[in-house]
Amino acid sequence: MAKKKSDASRPLGIFDSGIGGLTVASAINKLMPKEHIVYFGDTAHLPYGDKSPESIQKWAIAISDFLMTYNCKVIVIACNSISSVAYDLIKAHVGNKSIIINVIDPVVDFVCDQPKLKSVGVIGTKATIKTDIYAKKIKSKNKKLEVASLATPLLAPMIEEGFFNNKISKTIINDYLSRPKLKGVDSLILGCTHYPLIKPEIEQYYKGKVTLFDTAGIVANHTKEVLNANALLNNGKKTKHHFFVSDYTAAFAESTKLFFKGKVKLEHKNLWK
Ligand code: DGL
Repeated sequence: MAKKKSDASRPLGIFDSGIGGLTVASAINKLMPKEHIVYFGDTAHLPYGDKSPESIQKWAIAISDFLMTYNCKVIVIACNSISSVAYDLIKAHVGNKSIIINVIDPVVDFVCDQPKLKSVGVIGTKATIKTDIYAKKIKSKNKKLEVASLATPLLAPMIEEGFFNNKISKTIINDYLSRPKLKGVDSLILGCTHYPLIKPEIEQYYKGKVTLFDTAGIVANHTKEVLNANALLNNGKKTKHHFFVSDYTAAFAESTKLFFKGKVKLEHKNLWK
């Protein structure tokens, strides 16, 4: 008879539209190297940021179901666009079979805990910014904090295509960050999990005058706290991570190798055949 896996040795599910969630997965892997990650990148449908909430919700539910076939103890929605429009739905759908973590709440909590901040800018996809979720959540915790949100829809596809640290990315980033909406902010939330990949370029633009948050690190720390609080931290043997994409792309394969060094178990899995 097959041995029943103890709760703590179950894998951690992480998903995004593409490579963005790898910034979160990599931070989680660094902080908790014993955790076994099952990752799904919905490369067939990206960018999610331009899609309707209904489409994003439908895909997110299918991916959650797929991750639950691995009996994940926790599922991290490593995407702001999905977290904005589908978090409650996924939570209700999965029920008590797994704990669902989104990437917005831990960052909002962290930002609202910074006493010196006066204003915060948020950049993200159209799907995320349209919901105004950061401003609403921040204002509900700290009315005095000014929030300025700007949709930056070219950034995720640009990053997914490997365009960063070059002339083109610099021009696009500078154009967005110089928009009047973000004028005078003293901090900036990178409200898309793809954006940590261009954090050095954003830092270059602001020259240390604006605080940038380590969003992936914040989510990783929060995930550890949740695992710890539920006695779900894995202390057993380390298992190989497993990566899935709905459409095989060279960019995804390259990025997983870069983030997770060396050989990576990457499979093509079309959930929408
Ligand atoms: N990485 C995602 C996010 O955090 C989505 C990017 C996209 O597919 O548009 O919003």
